[in-house]
Amino acid sequence: MKGVKIIEWLGDRIRLIDQTRLPHEEVYLELSDYRDLASAIKEMRIRGAPAIGIAAAYGMALGAQEIEASSKVEFLTKLRPVSETLSATRPTAVNLFWALERMNSVAEKGDDVAQIKAALVGEAKRIDAENNEANRRLSLYGAELIRDGFAILTHCNTGALATAGYGTALGVIRMAKEQGKNIHVFVSETRPLLQGARLTAWELRKYDIPFTLIADTMSGHFLSKGRIDCAIVGADRIASNGDVANKIGTYNLAVLAMENGVPFYVAAPTSTIDLSIASGDGIPIEERSAKEVTHIQGIAIAPIGVAVENPAFDITPHRYISAIITEKGVIREPYVERLRKAVGE
Ligand code: MRU
Repeated sequence: MKGVKIIEWLGDRIRLIDQTRLPHEEVYLELSDYRDLASAIKEMRIRGAPAIGIAAAYGMALGAQEIEASSKVEFLTKLRPVSETLSATRPTAVNLFWALERMNSVAEKGDDVAQIKAALVGEAKRIDAENNEANRRLSLYGAELIRDGFAILTHCNTGALATAGYGTALGVIRMAKEQGKNIHVFVSETRPLLQGARLTAWELRKYDIPFTLIADTMSGHFLSKGRIDCAIVGADRIASNGDVANKIGTYNLAVLAMENGVPFYVAAPTSTIDLSIASGDGIPIEERSAKEVTHIQGIAIAPIGVAVENPAFDITPHRYISAIITEKGVIREPYVERLRKAVGE
């Protein structure tokens, strides 16, 4: 995104745009301790599955810099708590664990301490660059599904902020616009943390893409009135059978889309596919603080002390998904073999 760097490696620290302050304030954080980076991920100052993975990769590189060790074995022992702290931040987005696995494997293959420290920086940069390339490719594939004049419904935020790259679902939308298609986006606000209203609206303004913000409860109305041509969302984890974990409310949209004969697409890089999990039932769902539901931007909207549940994600069974758009192409049923092939297994 022009003029805005979502995550930047500065050699001895990481610079992030604080997403909790958007859209009204563009505030940057500079973190030189990996523990602060882990807190920033937990507090969703940096968020979105691919961006969490990239931040964690740089977090490993950062944590490695502060390690003093006289042997590789000692270094690897001291690197373990860095990896563990970062992996304990958010449980659903598999990109986090995927990136940490890549970083740990680079460390294990290294020769000596100095070489490993440099290799970790190199690998984090590679993960960052590969993600952006995957975003662009999947956006090109996805844009083929968007026709001139389409009204597109999207949920949560899946753009540059969520990916530190071109975007996934929002990347598809950006690409369609760059191709000169006349499109209109319906953005659902995405309670409880309002990633749609705060972040997607902020990004779409920057890209000069026309959009309408709607409350989450309005999507059924617009789908049933024939006002939406397709829905596109991102993913935090895709099971081998094509079931998708994504921001809470995605399942509602998918069911309503099918009921109204509207195609429902999921756009994600293959790093979001978790072949170790057979179906959505096996995907861990993050439960977040009750305060996110009882308060909006710090203001209480419910009586004090009410019982709350706050699952941050839901599972959309694959039967509701018209296609999964990846950098390897547009994947449709049967998902099991086609997802396996896309991941390269
Ligand atoms: O809780 P968040 O804001 O990290 O959740 C983000 C989403 O659910 C996105 O849709 C998903 O990570 C895909 S981002 C390209």
